[in-house]
Amino acid sequence: MKDLISQTIHFVQQQLENAESGHDWWHVVRVHALARQFAIELNANLIVVELAALLHDIADSKFHNGNEETGPALAAQFLEIQHLDSATIQQVVYIIRHMSFKHSFSFNDTPSLEFQVVQDADRLDAIGAIGIARAFSYGGFKQRPFFDPEIAPQHYTSTSQYSNSKAPTINHFYEKLLLLKDLMNTGPAKKLAEKRHDYMVNFLRQFDAEWNGLC
Ligand code: ADP
Ligand code: NI
Repeated sequence: MKDLISQTIHFVQQQLENAESGHDWWHVVRVHALARQFAIELNANLIVVELAALLHDIADSKFHNGNEETGPALAAQFLEIQHLDSATIQQVVYIIRHMSFKHSFSFNDTPSLEFQVVQDADRLDAIGAIGIARAFSYGGFKQRPFFDPEIAPQHYTSTSQYSNSKAPTINHFYEKLLLLKDLMNTGPAKKLAEKRHDYMVNFLRQFDAEWNGLC
């Protein structure tokens, strides 16, 4: 299994060679480490968790013309070449196909522990100091304004509404990032999310105060 993990690491590093810095190899390294830690603490299937964490962003639809199938298909193909058994492949591919925030609007299944762990690890990397850095990196990559007081944050209720938004980066905090703390699945993730969440709230307060010349 150690061999499979190192092959996977090698494959993912190659796939993410030119990725935007919020969705690059280092994002995967952080998610993998957190997911591994939670899996050990909660006694989840380590191989499923590690593979899903490593492969979850290999072809994000945001960077592949909205194509939702490229990532899961590529992951399945890679794991088949590694001769992994098909039940494990199915579990891994199911996680990476359904775990993203944009899919949460229509996701009604009961998630496995492994699914919950990987989703929590990915969501933790979207909040806190690193979450702030990633949001502005993505906003810059998309050439978005970072703030426009005339564009109010929206409450999205569907994947397409959410995915088609071109709102300023500060809006993304209200539209997604501040919601994540209460969406964590597992105990250890909820604990880490508190501090990261408070850090973002303080950042937004300071941002607002500076924008209004108050400090
Ligand atoms: P998921 O992959 O769970 O569907 P997203 O693709 O919405 O989540 O976002 C992943 C990360 O990309 C976010 O946590 C954030 O850092 C960045 N990001 C996505 N959309 C935006 C946006 N509109 N503005 C700023 N950052 C964004
Ligand atoms: Ni991710």
